[in-house]
Amino acid sequence: MTAKLFTPIQLGGVTLPNRVVVSPMCQYSADDGSMTDWHLMHLGTMACSGAGLFVVEATNVTREGRITHGCTGLYSDHNEAAMARAVQVYRGITTRPIGIQVGHAGRKASAQVPWIGGKALGRAESPWETVAPSAIAFGEGWHVPRELSKEDLRQLLDAYVGAAERSKRIGFDVLELHSAHGYLLHQFLSPLANQRTDEYGRNRMKFPLEVAQAMRDVWPRERALGIRINATDWMDGGWMPEDAVAYAKELQRIGFDFICVSSGATVPHAKIPAGPGFQVAFAERIRNEARINVRAVGMIASPQQAEDIVASGKADMVAMARAFLDDPRWVWHAAERFGVKVDYPPPYARSHPSLWPGAALKQN
Ligand SMILES: Cc1cc2nc3c(=O)[nH]c(=O)nc-3n(C[C@H](O)[C@H](O)[C@H](O)COP(=O)(O)O)c2cc1C
Repeated sequence: MTAKLFTPIQLGGVTLPNRVVVSPMCQYSADDGSMTDWHLMHLGTMACSGAGLFVVEATNVTREGRITHGCTGLYSDHNEAAMARAVQVYRGITTRPIGIQVGHAGRKASAQVPWIGGKALGRAESPWETVAPSAIAFGEGWHVPRELSKEDLRQLLDAYVGAAERSKRIGFDVLELHSAHGYLLHQFLSPLANQRTDEYGRNRMKFPLEVAQAMRDVWPRERALGIRINATDWMDGGWMPEDAVAYAKELQRIGFDFICVSSGATVPHAKIPAGPGFQVAFAERIRNEARINVRAVGMIASPQQAEDIVASGKADMVAMARAFLDDPRWVWHAAERFGVKVDYPPPYARSHPSLWPGAALKQN
């Protein structure tokens, strides 16, 4: 019997050839939001991976929305041209779908890249003013953000639409809204970050749902539209799994094609019981209660673990991040294990294990 992991799945108008997704991963290697040669290598590598979908890193809708100086954006023509060049590399290698995650870091913007320390930028590191639903810092030592006015929110909505239009022109198959991990949209959702007294605080889903609706209005139905959300903040008084279910139902009603279910990163001091597949049960609950395709993520690493998650109906897809950095050929090896044939890029075809034992080595 074919492994469920290697069966196709339809998301909106896009068919993923298998259910393994390369999770969005910031590369912190952009120049004023524009992809660089590093991204050509990264997208080229992931294009060879055989994954059903590769999602480009959190790409910010404004310059101020970047997490770090090295984060990608889609706020300028130059950003768009640089990303189009990288996507062209991907398309030159594979016909498999490619997606992009769009977001805004809000109060978690203006930070160092992780390998420098990942803290708020110091005075000598060209920091910038951050914005958020309320003037509450992410944690100790972090910038206190400026509270967004209603006019700011109107402009931000335009920025999200602008980034979606650019993504459409670049030719992405999938648009994924970043509404997780304590970034701007999630800051609106979480009572730990949103203490506004206006309608955007009384109804914390209001702004995220306005953005979600705007994305649905602008993103073609023949492509696919998804979102990454948090199932929980892992904090008393924070965003809870019931809230996530209610949010997911609204997203399903708006017409989203899938939800990726993650958690944490709203505040730095949350205690997260991370372990293998620790977020899968949240994905399963959202799948059952909101009746939408879900993607599970978080400490999924082995082919059997991934197969068990989709075969048992807990999730429709799995996303993996670190496993793909460690082994960009993860899908090839999983396919080998389940006896499934996947197409290797022709120049690499001779690496297939079936051609090793006893096969004549052609020396050329
Ligand atoms: C280097 C790196 C960059 C990441 N960047 C993003 C990102 O851009 N957007 C996002 O939603 N999650 C990001 N994440 C989180 C991953 O997508 C994923 O949810 C998390 O690493 C858990 O999955 P894993 O256990 O398979 O690594 C990043 C993770 C890593 C390791």
